[in-house]
Amino acid sequence: MPKITVVGSFVMDMVASVEEFPLAGQTVLGRSLRVYPGGKGANQCVAAARLGAQTAMIGMVGSDGNGKTFLELFQEEGIDCANVFVTEKEPTAIAQIQINAAAENKIVVIPSANFVFGEREWRQCEKAIKESAVVIMQMELNPGITEEIIRTCARLSVPVVLNPAPARNISGEVLGLATYVTPNETELELLTGMPTDTEENIYKAAGKLLSFGVRAVVATLGKRGALVADAHGKRIIPGYTVKVVDTVAAGDSFNGALAKCITEGKSLDEAVRYANAVGALTVSKQGAIPSLPTAAEVEAFIKARA
Ligand code: RIB
Repeated sequence: MPKITVVGSFVMDMVASVEEFPLAGQTVLGRSLRVYPGGKGANQCVAAARLGAQTAMIGMVGSDGNGKTFLELFQEEGIDCANVFVTEKEPTAIAQIQINAAAENKIVVIPSANFVFGEREWRQCEKAIKESAVVIMQMELNPGITEEIIRTCARLSVPVVLNPAPARNISGEVLGLATYVTPNETELELLTGMPTDTEENIYKAAGKLLSFGVRAVVATLGKRGALVADAHGKRIIPGYTVKVVDTVAAGDSFNGALAKCITEGKSLDEAVRYANAVGALTVSKQGAIPSLPTAAEVEAFIKARA
């Protein structure tokens, strides 16, 4: 079975449920505080594993309870953790997340151990990358090492799915080395410097991203679905309407699903249709990793909506 390797972050999410987000200087009373394992990299890896892909994770946790929780969880999910490093220098990363009554979220991530992952660790991972059918990346590791990882994958001719989140400037030259780039509308705007307020503008911005040299742009548009731009043209693959409980990790599960379908040789449109279903199921449950669906759940959902 082709292997999907995720190079990225582990983050323990502290999720406060509130009626309305507090304004600057305001204190509000929340409804609940829950702790869930998350982090864009970890979410993407578990998403692909639950869908039946052979997966490996590359990243770093602290030598603390949260790090241990991640290692045990990944073992239960059947994920290869041979290149998950443990550092004494920093704790496992933590995120403060607020979710309001409209299911919108605000997230602050403290990178901690994720930013300790560097050149020294990355040099030990080349064999694992060579054995991968596809690599998924996000931008929650140190910016310098993120660029280095993309360059290595390009040199080894291993396709990269780059989820440019959280949004940050990255040179067109490095972006062009990624095979698939999967921004949301805000990230697409930041990467291209173009507005994404209308469908026409999103099409134009995706075209600019394509001109950097990526094979395909898959821009996630929330409940509207996703825009695909590649050599065959630009089109929107519609999403599914579901009751939204918590959108955390929806983009991550979409990326894990997309990569899984790519390694199976599905067409990009088929892959995006499937990933839309996975994203829809993710927003209908609470938490990051706890909300990620299994392959059986996705199949039942697609069948019920056919
Ligand atoms: O994409 C969602 C993730 O972003 C959360 O799990 C949080 O940890 C942040 O990294």
